[in-house]
Amino acid sequence: MQRREFLLSAAASGALASAARAGAAAVPAKPGFLWGTAGAAYQIEGGNYASDLWVVEHVKPTIFAEPSGDACDAYHHVMEDIALVASLGFNAHRFSIEWSRIEPERGQISRAGLAYYRRVLEACREHRLAPAVTFNHFTVPRWVAASGGYADPANVAAFAAHCRRVTEEMGDLIHLAATFNEPNLSTVVRWGGMLDKARPIIAMMQQAAGAATASPGWASPMLAGEAQYDGVLAAHAAAIDAMRAGGGKFPIGLTLAVTADHAAGGDDSGLKRKQAEMLDRWLAAPGDFIGVQTYTGSAVDANADVPPPPGTELTQMGYAFTPDAIEKSVRLVAGRTKKAIYVTENGVATEDDTRRIAYIQGAVAGVQRCVADGIDLRGYFHWSLLDNWEWMAGYKPKFGLVSVDPRTFRRTPKPSARFLGAIARRGGLG
Ligand code: BGC
Repeated sequence: MQRREFLLSAAASGALASAARAGAAAVPAKPGFLWGTAGAAYQIEGGNYASDLWVVEHVKPTIFAEPSGDACDAYHHVMEDIALVASLGFNAHRFSIEWSRIEPERGQISRAGLAYYRRVLEACREHRLAPAVTFNHFTVPRWVAASGGYADPANVAAFAAHCRRVTEEMGDLIHLAATFNEPNLSTVVRWGGMLDKARPIIAMMQQAAGAATASPGWASPMLAGEAQYDGVLAAHAAAIDAMRAGGGKFPIGLTLAVTADHAAGGDDSGLKRKQAEMLDRWLAAPGDFIGVQTYTGSAVDANADVPPPPGTELTQMGYAFTPDAIEKSVRLVAGRTKKAIYVTENGVATEDDTRRIAYIQGAVAGVQRCVADGIDLRGYFHWSLLDNWEWMAGYKPKFGLVSVDPRTFRRTPKPSARFLGAIARRGGLG
């Protein structure tokens, strides 16, 4: 072991020992509980030219801080990444399949694209990682957006056909599948008050993207937001049927953006309305599990989130630093569904890895309390494995357990990677 690696692992095990001493919810390991890392194709692979987002990123005006470009070049480093996840101590890994790599033009199937993702799944299995696959993590092929997104039933059918094709080709290797990642995100963004500012720019971007592709009906689902919810729900249901028809035996669900909020002042009417709008239609959708994805929470007044008070510790995303948020979110969702729950994302954007360790420690303690209370919580996936392209915010926010050199793509695990890996290996904090 090199000196640097030794120091990193010593720092991580010191933090773990102090967490254990603090007696943070000493719950025994639950057999089969998944401890994983998470990522999404578009944010890490690089060069997803056939995706709608590649077009959207490059039209002007833009709401993107910088283009994704090569991202983490995970397309070429994925085997190394999977080996790293396993060597750190995890037993699961979440990633997404980029539809546009498999079907870059409507009906034109890339055998190489299919073979690539099959190799990724095989590598997970070789390294004893349970693969959790997301079929739609925000991006779609550009031809889907150019023809109206999920508002067009032909695209709903195309998504279902894609899910069936992938299931037939590699479903034997999938452990867990999510159709959509955070299809409810626009509701959360609307309550956060960010949509009003972005709306005029989004409208201009949609127009510019349409002009760039000679497709006036341009509707990237990421930009179309709540207007496409019915179509997305239809695509979710159709995809489940298609995966089952294709022989898929794995649990299928969807993942949701969940904020862990409280009422501002004495009036909880806004809070209740936000929670219902954020969750209910998605919890009622078909599927075997719900993926809970939480980063923070805030006070909510009658109509909107209230900004954190001055003096609150903020993350690089401007969110309040709230390690206990994930416990609250899991309890909120568990109170509204009987489905199994996985934490499919939780993490913090920070340059200070000691704060990430503190965040993980608090979050995992809460996760363990949920399990101890009998909630059917089956896994914890940390966002993110790598420092990657954070959508509109570009490369500045650092969510990763592992840093990535932007020129050489060299991966370097941070102390937090060893810290959470050690938790995963021993099945919990205590
Ligand atoms: C998304 C990720 C994103 C993360 C951190 C989630 O909304 O699923 O793609 O990077 O939050 O902001």
